[in-house]
Amino acid sequence: MREQQPAPLIDSPAAVALAKHAQAARQWRLRELFEQDASRATQFTLEAAGLCLDFSKNHLTSETVKLLAEFAEARGVETLREAMFRGERINRSEQRAALHTALRLPASATLTVDGEDLVSEVQRELARALAFAERVRQGDWTGFNGKKITDVVNVGIGGSDLGPMMTCAALRAYAHPDLRFHFLSNVDGHAIVATLAKLDPATTLFIISSKSFTTQETMLNAHAARRWFLNHADEKYLAQHFVAVSTNTAAVEAFGISRDNMFPFRDWVGGRFSIWSSIGLSLMIAIGKDHFGNFLSGGHAMDEHFCQAPLNANMPVMLALIAFWYRDYFETSSQLIAPYHEDLRHFPAYLQQLEMESNGKRVTRDGQPVSMKTSPVIWGSAGTNNQHAYFQMLHQGSDLIPVDFIVALKPMHDLLDQHRALLANCFAQAEALMNGVQDASLPPHREFPGNCPSNMLLMNQLSPATLGALIALYEHKTFVLGVLWDINSFDQWGVELGKTLALRILSELDGSETTPTHDSSTDALIKRARDAIK
Ligand code: F6P
Repeated sequence: MREQQPAPLIDSPAAVALAKHAQAARQWRLRELFEQDASRATQFTLEAAGLCLDFSKNHLTSETVKLLAEFAEARGVETLREAMFRGERINRSEQRAALHTALRLPASATLTVDGEDLVSEVQRELARALAFAERVRQGDWTGFNGKKITDVVNVGIGGSDLGPMMTCAALRAYAHPDLRFHFLSNVDGHAIVATLAKLDPATTLFIISSKSFTTQETMLNAHAARRWFLNHADEKYLAQHFVAVSTNTAAVEAFGISRDNMFPFRDWVGGRFSIWSSIGLSLMIAIGKDHFGNFLSGGHAMDEHFCQAPLNANMPVMLALIAFWYRDYFETSSQLIAPYHEDLRHFPAYLQQLEMESNGKRVTRDGQPVSMKTSPVIWGSAGTNNQHAYFQMLHQGSDLIPVDFIVALKPMHDLLDQHRALLANCFAQAEALMNGVQDASLPPHREFPGNCPSNMLLMNQLSPATLGALIALYEHKTFVLGVLWDINSFDQWGVELGKTLALRILSELDGSETTPTHDSSTDALIKRARDAIK
């Protein structure tokens, strides 16, 4: 007999209560909510781990927060949160734990999973990676002619690229002044050709970063870098210029990198959650041991808040609930991330992988169709450039697009007039989006409907600790959304089909397989490409 399936999520009592409440909420004007309650900004502001979230410019009241928190409780957010932190195999489809939080536990903490003391292991590998990073920073780790390393190239893609690239840019102000960092991810040869042209093989260190050490893009780039290096130096110097970060020792050794030059991590670290592991090696080299320690502490401070704060005063939970509220009750399809900080310019791309690869799913953890809409499109770029590109659509377009503004109150430079202008623009956008302009004397094209919601995330200054807290905040937001939708946020089976087909088409482009086997469009494209490059 077939097992009886639970009622779809959309029909659960907490979801029904939210749907009823949403009918009224969709009629509210944000401006009026502020007029009705002078304490609104204070009431809807949370502080945690050096971050401040003002979520008052959203379509919600205290009743909404109560209903959303009840929904989160009914979905089992607290139970699954504890299971995740305990190291249970919550990534069921891959039978793995999701223990990135263990990577930022202080050395004094204890975490035993399946009889293994994970903190000791994490601390041992961290110390090894940091010691290597210090050698590069101090100039003790030299290239083949005895000169100091000047350029570090991280070769990786997805989580093995976006984390290192985003954080190295974000913490540029804390980085070693004499080291340059490069990030090679795309399989497009134009990228590596342009990068290698800037480098001196004698002073370049390649970090081959790949959890699996089988990813096509990374392996092709790594082999191209190796060939380039061997055109300039003897093979015996390879060890001074190539190190690896991976979980796959055999593949690393087969590439020609010894265990001594490999920085491992465990399979319970998901790619998009891996910046805290040795995947962060380029960041460790950039900012050094103390700052990297502060980065981990910032992440851990957010973990503690996430574990301890009640649901209705919990920053990651509220961020997730607000996102859920718009996605499923206001039918929004995208979420804009607008960091008003040039050094956070890669943060939207980082969050694209984090949120869309985690929650771009359509079946529940038990394989049933999800009855609600899941991940919205995450997009964005740094302000104020964004205002001169697509903000027109936010103000007067036909879609409702919630915005997360992210801003640091103090700059890392002394151009205070420019920093005040940056802050003024950021706050003005949030205000303009909310209030709009309705004036009967204006022609329609000059009117702004307003009522567009936003979150404002403030930090005192962008530092290793606040960056750590910011990343952990969005990681937990992503996890909570997955729990609300009952999906597994930690696998990514959706990337497999394209990978498999690309391998098949590659063999056809090579000419080794010539029988047309696809649809007429794909076959014609392959033929054209084969003829062009033969
Ligand atoms: O895009 C799929 C994916 O597996 C990501 O989850 C991962 O971050 C990326 O590829 C890179 O994988 P790897 O680190 O194994 O090279």
